Amino acid sequence: MDADARLSPLRAEAARVARIPLRDLIAQDPDRACGFALRVGPLYASFARQHYDRAARDALFALARELDVLARLRALFGGEPVNVTEGRAALHTALRGNLSSSPTAREAHGEAVRVRQRMREVIDALAAGPVTDIVSVGIGGSDLGPRLAVDALSGPLRGRFRVHFLSNVDGHAAQRVLAGLDPARTAGLLISKSFGTQETLLNGRILREWLGDDSRLYAISANVERAAGYGIPPERILPMWDWVGGRYSMWSAVGLPIALAIGMDGFEALLDGAAEMDAHVLNSEPERNLAVWHAFTAVWNRNARGLESQAVLPYDERLRLLPNYLQQLVMESLGKSVTRDGRPVACATVPVWWGGPGTDTQHSFFQALHQGTSIVPCDFIGVARTDAPYAENHRALLSNLLAQCEALANGQASDDPHRVYPGGRPSTLLLLDALTPRALGALVALYEHSVYLQSVVWQINAFDQFGVELGKQVANRLLPALSGEGEADDPVTRALIAELRGVR
Ligand code: F6P
Repeated sequence: MDADARLSPLRAEAARVARIPLRDLIAQDPDRACGFALRVGPLYASFARQHYDRAARDALFALARELDVLARLRALFGGEPVNVTEGRAALHTALRGNLSSSPTAREAHGEAVRVRQRMREVIDALAAGPVTDIVSVGIGGSDLGPRLAVDALSGPLRGRFRVHFLSNVDGHAAQRVLAGLDPARTAGLLISKSFGTQETLLNGRILREWLGDDSRLYAISANVERAAGYGIPPERILPMWDWVGGRYSMWSAVGLPIALAIGMDGFEALLDGAAEMDAHVLNSEPERNLAVWHAFTAVWNRNARGLESQAVLPYDERLRLLPNYLQQLVMESLGKSVTRDGRPVACATVPVWWGGPGTDTQHSFFQALHQGTSIVPCDFIGVARTDAPYAENHRALLSNLLAQCEALANGQASDDPHRVYPGGRPSTLLLLDALTPRALGALVALYEHSVYLQSVVWQINAFDQFGVELGKQVANRLLPALSGEGEADDPVTRALIAELRGVR
C-alpha cells in the first residue's frame, strides 16, 4: 500500500478534530496535561497542545503498529542496509551504545570504542603542549553537530581548549576565525567524511598555511587514504566509517571538538544520554515511545492537517544553534520526493524547518505565528534548571516560554478584528531538567529517531542526499569561467559572469 493510502484514516480524523477548537479539546479532557506527556530520563515532553484528541492519537498509534515501526527500528540498530540507495547501514546508535545483538552492530560498537581511546590520546597530547585554541574545519554534518554541542555545553569557565569553527567557503569566515588567534598556540582539525569537500579543502589549506607547522594538524575522515595523501600522517588521522551518515556523526571522532571543549568525560556523558534515549526508543511500545509520538505528530501536522512548515524555538541561549542543526538533520534526511524503491512519493514529505531562540524571536517573527494566515506547528525547547547566575532572568525566560505555548493554543477574542488571536496554533514542549551533556544527547537522539520514523511513514531513504550534488558539480564547472577560462553553457549564468567580471 502506498503511503498516501495509509494516511487516509488520519485525514478523516483531522477533518473531525478540526471542528473542535484546540482550547476546547484541552478544556474537555481534564487529564490531558498528564495523558499527553511522557518523560524519558532528563527529558519531559508535552504534546497536550497538539491539535488532536485521544481518538486521533490512537489512529497515529494504529498506523505506527501497522508499519511495524519497532521492527524498522531493530533493522536500523542491527546494521541492516537501511540506506538502500547506497547499500549501507546507518549505525549511529552503535557509536554510543551496544543495544543490538547483531554482529555488525557489535563490531561497529567495538570500533567506536577503540576510536574513543584515540580521541583521549589526542586530547592528552594537545594538553601537554602550548595549545590553547582549536580551529575545527568542516561543513554540514562535519560541523553542525559539534558546533551545536560546543556552543551549548562549554560554559564560560569549563574546558581546557577554546574551540572555533570554520565552515563557510567565504574567505571572510577564515579571516574572522583566525583573527586574534596565535598560530603557535593553535591546533587544527580537518573534519570531512569524504575528504573531498571543496569548502573544507580550501579552508584547510588556509589554516595549514596560517599554522605554518603541520605537526598540530589532525584529520577525521572515512577516507583515510585521501587524508594521508593530503600529507597528514596516520597517527594524526582518526577514522570514521561509511556506516555513519555525516549528519549523524557527532557521536564519532567527528565529535572531537566537543571532547576538546568539554572534556572526554563530558563527551561520553553526551553519548550516554543518547544511548539512554536509544534504549527507550528501541524497547518501548508505540503508545509509550517518545520518538513515535514525536514522529507521528509531525506526520499528523504534515499529512493529515497539510501544514507546510515547522518551527523550532529553543528558549535557552545556549541552544540557539539547534534550529541550524535540525535543518540539516531533518531537511537533508527527509527532503525527498522518491520512495526507497524509486517511485514518486504519494504524499507530502518534509515541511520547511526553521526557527530561532526565544525570547529574541518573539520580537521578530512571532507576530506571524500568532496572527499570520499559515498555521505553523512549533517545537518549544526549555530548560528547567539553569546554572546562569541571574535567577530572575531565568524565571522571565520560562514565563515567556509558557506564555507563548498557551497564547498560541488558546488565542483570545476581541471586538476589534486587529486584536483577535485566533489560537489553535499547535506546539510540542520539550523540557530538559538541565542543559547537561546527557540531556543534550537525549534530545538530539530523539530528533534522529523521529526523523527515521517519519522516513518509514513516507517510504523514503533518510540517509542519502543526492539533492546536494548537482549544485556542487555546476559550481566546479563554473569555477574556471570566473577567472576567464572558458565560458558557462547557460546563457543567464554567462551574462552574470560577464557582469561579475566587469565590476571593478
Ligand atoms: O551537504 C552535503 C554533504 O555531503 C553533507 O551530507 C555532509 O555532511 C557535508 O556535505 C560534508 O561532507 P564531508 O564530511 O564529506 O566533508
